[in-house]
This record gives sequence, C-alpha cells and structure tokens, in this order.
Amino acid sequence: MAEADVMDKLVSLAKRRGFVFQSSEIYGGTGSVWDYGPLGIELKRNVKEAWWSAMVHQREDVEGVDAAILMHPSVWEASGHVAGFSDPLVECRVCKKRFREDVLETSECGKKPSLAPGTHVECDLLPARLFNLMFKTFMGPVETESAVVYLRPETAQGSYVNFLNVQTAARQKVPFGIAQIGKAFRNEITPGNFIFRTREFEQAEMQFFVEPGTDEEWFERWLEERQKWHRSLGVSPENLRLHEHGPDELAHYAKKAVDIQYHFPFGWKELEGVHNRTDFDLSRHEEYSGKRLEYVDSGGGKRFVPYVVETAVGVDRTVLMILCDAYREEEVEGETRVVLSLSPRMAPVKAAVFPLVKKDGLPEIARKIVDGLRRAAIPVFYDEAGSIGRRYRRQDEAGTPWCITVDGQTSEDGTVTIRDRDSLKQLRVDKTSVREWVLESLADRQS
Ligand code: GAP
Repeated sequence: MAEADVMDKLVSLAKRRGFVFQSSEIYGGTGSVWDYGPLGIELKRNVKEAWWSAMVHQREDVEGVDAAILMHPSVWEASGHVAGFSDPLVECRVCKKRFREDVLETSECGKKPSLAPGTHVECDLLPARLFNLMFKTFMGPVETESAVVYLRPETAQGSYVNFLNVQTAARQKVPFGIAQIGKAFRNEITPGNFIFRTREFEQAEMQFFVEPGTDEEWFERWLEERQKWHRSLGVSPENLRLHEHGPDELAHYAKKAVDIQYHFPFGWKELEGVHNRTDFDLSRHEEYSGKRLEYVDSGGGKRFVPYVVETAVGVDRTVLMILCDAYREEEVEGETRVVLSLSPRMAPVKAAVFPLVKKDGLPEIARKIVDGLRRAAIPVFYDEAGSIGRRYRRQDEAGTPWCITVDGQTSEDGTVTIRDRDSLKQLRVDKTSVREWVLESLADRQS
C-alpha cells in the first residue's frame, strides 16, 4: 500500500469509527485542530495512564503536578520563548501560502503540479521573517500590552517554577523528578499529517533534577527507560530509532538532545525528545524572579542549582504511532478485512458481546455477560445489529481484541464463543467464566 494511502485510510477510519474528528467540522473545520471521539478518547486515556503508571506510580523518585496553562508572562521571558521560540516564515506573493524556510525542500507550493516553493517560474517568495509560535491572549478585561499572557507552548515551565514547592511538600531529595501531562499550544506555520503536528496538543513531560556532574549518566538512563516504554505499547521495535541532534538542531536550552523517532507512513519523525537542559531553566527563573531555586542537601550540606534531564513526548503523536502501527488490511476468505491490531492494553474497547439472533433469550444472556464485564470496569460493547460477519468487521476496525457470541449452543450447554481478533480462532468458554477469562487475558497481555 502506498504510504499516502495509509494515512488517507487511517484518517477515514478514525472518523468512521469515532477515534478522531476534525474540530468544528460543521463550520468547515478549524486549521489543524482535532477532536477525539468515543474510541479516540479511550485510546488516548490508555496512553496517558500507561505513561503516568510508568513515570509516577511505579517510581518513588518522581512526583506529579498539574500546573495551569496560563502563567506569569515573565516565565516566558525567562525561558527564552519570547525572544527565541520562532520559526523562519516565508510567504509567496503569488499563491499567498506560507512556509517554514528551514523545510522548504519538503513543502508543497500552492501552484500545480505541487513542487517545492520557489521552483515554479511564477513563484515569488518574500524574504524570511521570524515568527513567534506562542499564542497570545489578554488576562482581564483590558486588552493592553501589560495584560498580555501566553498559552503555554510546553508544560515543562510549570514544573520548573514549582520545583521547590514540590521538593519541600513531597520531601524529595535530589535526584528526583516532576511529571506532568497537559495541553500545549503552538501557532505552527506548517501543521499537518493529521494529529502529528497540530496547534493544540498534549504533552507528557518529566523534568528530572540531578546534581551537576551526574547529568550525563542520568540522561543515558532516561533514554533507555523511555525506549523501553515505547516498546511496551506493543509497536514494532524496528519502527523505532534514535536521532541525536547536531549543534545546529539543538534548542536554546539544551546541552544534548536525542529524539526517539518512529517510522510513520510519511517518514521517520520525532515522537519524543530527551534533553539535557543543564541548569538553564532554574538559573533563568532565579534571575528573572529574584528567588533562589537552589537545592540544599540536608545530609551533606551541599548547595547547588540542579541540572535537568527532560523526557518530553507528544500524547497525540503516540496515539498516531499506535494507530499507524496497528493498521492492517488482510485477505480473509476472499474478502479484505481492515483491522487495528491494538494491544489489549491500548484497545479502547476490550470485548464486544453479540447475541447471534435477537430472539430465543439470547439477547438477555448477552446483556447479563455485558453487565458482569461492566461491573469489573472492563470497557465493553453490546451489538445485536446486522449479520454476525458485519459485527465482527466493525469490532476489527475498532481494534477490539475479543468478540463474545451467544448462540444456540449457549442455551444447551451454557458456553459462548470467544473470537480472537488477530488469529481469528474461536474457543468455547462457560458463560459464567467470561469475566475471569477477559481479566486474565488482559493481565497476561499487559503490552
Ligand atoms: N519541553 C520540551 C519540548 O516541548 P519539543 O521537542 O518541542 O520539546 C516535545 O516537544 C514533544 O511534544 C515532541 O517530541 C512531540 O511529540 C510533541 N509536539 C511538539 N510540537 C507538537 C505539535 N505541534 N503537535 C503535536 N505534538 C507536538
């Protein structure tokens, strides 16, 4: 399948099955902003829960926070975002399209056939100017320069300004980390590739505060941890690789940066960044706020401004990775079936329950099984509409790992069939054991 086709098919499946919809679609859509539907929000929650579990619940050296999106404007002066969070913007006088100068060769001109901007004889590109990616708004009723605030372009700063609050309240000693999941906003010049690059997105970031001199060792440890986490989501390991930033790619705050990349249908792209931010952020906040942000080691009496190793992953990009990795088209008995081979842990719905026919007491038995699964908080779906084949296909597209069918034999011997989405194998299980079977299978398939 051509790579562009995979993305088109995925976008259409995402809409059809309720994973992702275009924002404000009835008004023609908002540029590069997307809404998550009933299945999409479950998948996204599963990603966030897997991250929170690995980064916070399973560790004693990382604490969580949920900082506000609107912060004091000086935060962004200190962080360097007001002065330096810009992309070089190039506009074409002819087609009126805007491009990022640093990726012109891979951009598409407004003229047909689509070529790189500047290639057509008619192209007339204006000189590049720097465009700050932060969204501005006003705090309070007066729209003056002094009332300007920004929608945060990264969650990290909320963790830095709370460094001492968290360290004191949670009685943590360096090394320790602060984890946060939340929305970030960037007025990207060239958003695109569905939910890959958007203007409103979610990040899962962790700032790990360490003693200077131990930062390089912690960097390697976190890089290893984060690769393990991505593999644990059930994606093909050969589609993951590392890319170290060269000097011209490094962000203003970074001493070293390595991206974890995924092989998307549109190429190898950044999924997560692991950064050695040194003491850049804490020192700058000391300078701009006039408050000390140093750590005092009560045991050894050492005082220092910690270095920070940051792990920063996009939640929406992780969702896209999981969808791309799971998408398959297969020939089954002469027909093409579309299936999302999601790991049971990531699957939005874990089991679907069908009565084979809408009579002979089969719907009542099926409903009882659904109630039992719901009581165990297992996301489950009941469906009695259409042929059994169509019901299976709908669940294959939704990525549901198991379909449970109540049929004629159930009334005779009390068993139901459980069909495995990937192998298509069916086994019979007593209707009273379905809940235990699903719980055990979920526990066995934690990746
Ligand atoms: N605090 C560091 C930081 O924000 P970043 O590399 O700019 O670093 C971290 O962003 C991650 O956030 C990226 O690896 C990506 O997954 C996600 N991300 C960044 N910009 C995005 C956008 N416009 N749309 C979707 N995800 C984005």
